[in-house]
Amino acid sequence: MTFKDDRKVVLITGCSSGLGLSLAETLVQADRYKLIITTRGRSIEKLREYFQESPNVMVRELDVNNPVQIYGLINEICCAWGGIDTLVNNAGVCYRSVIEHMDPDAELEQLRTNYLGPMSIIRAVLPLMRERGKGHIINISSVSGSVPMPTMGSYSSSKHALEAASEALWYEARPFGVQVTLVQPGFIRSESYKNVVLSKKAMLSTEVNGSHAEFYRSMAPLVEKLMGFSLSNPRGIARKIQKIIDMSRPPFRIGVTADAVVFRILRSVLPNGLFRRLMYSLLPGSTVWGERLQSLSTSVPKVG
Ligand SMILES: NC(=O)c1ccc[n+]([C@@H]2O[C@H](COP(=O)([O-])OP(=O)(O)OC[C@H]3O[C@@H](n4cnc5c(N)ncnc54)[C@H](OP(=O)(O)O)[C@@H]3O)[C@@H](O)[C@H]2O)c1
Repeated sequence: MTFKDDRKVVLITGCSSGLGLSLAETLVQADRYKLIITTRGRSIEKLREYFQESPNVMVRELDVNNPVQIYGLINEICCAWGGIDTLVNNAGVCYRSVIEHMDPDAELEQLRTNYLGPMSIIRAVLPLMRERGKGHIINISSVSGSVPMPTMGSYSSSKHALEAASEALWYEARPFGVQVTLVQPGFIRSESYKNVVLSKKAMLSTEVNGSHAEFYRSMAPLVEKLMGFSLSNPRGIARKIQKIIDMSRPPFRIGVTADAVVFRILRSVLPNGLFRRLMYSLLPGSTVWGERLQSLSTSVPKVG
């Protein structure tokens, strides 16, 4: 199978906002790729307002959890442009909740979108890349894929799963000329934190001052503040991803914000126990976590 011109064919998921939108804009402006810009049905009209269809740009609906849409779109791309050079698995969702408050439906949706969906798309494009002896799969992970934080356990787990599978895939795809890259952003200065969802129990706990209310009260403003102060914005990270797309020998794992690089270095040089204790002491409010309920339980005489 041969490509019709030398523009790389790049498929990006989750382009209606944040990083995906910036990456799509950056690549459209560069005008040297064939792009398939995608998002779920609920945002497709918004995406069509942003991007014009052209001989080098397709705007398509793609829910990463919908196998019919995945195979339909890949078939269409192959007929039009002969195959896919680069897949960017960017779509993601983020639920904030302590493990105790995570509800099974939200947990499953997060795991499906952040891990199982990307795996389905990879399974659909990999045989095509393998046959051509080249291709590049870029999975957008997170610093949470290396460093779990309180109230982010379920999100972190979905990114850890993505990281583990990507590492296995690196070995499996390499002999066939297919490259794999994990991109790890840390805090990004953007409005995307507004898309972070509290689980139902997490919301309730916050409202009624429940068992883990202090965790939510301290972690949410921390994340928003760190995002606000971050030197990295989606546009800058999009330019870094463009460079990775253009590389002939891309790295396997790359931190694309300063905090992501620092966290990974600390994680790898400090003993695990020391790292966790350091993190615990640095997290705002950690000194009072659990204090209120502990004092309540000691003031109430135990039955039996
Ligand atoms: N923002 C950060 O600080 C940060 C940090 C580290 C890692 N990341 C990672 O970077 C990636 C982009 O994040 P972002 O901050 O730019 O998020 P965002 O602004 O919330 O955008 C997420 C995108 O994913 C799409 N999406 C959600 N579920 C989907 C599904 N089932 N199928 C297809 N598309 C779906 C959304 O589309 P709809 O419009 O349909 O909802 C949206 O276009 C994610 O993988 C995220 O985990 C972000």
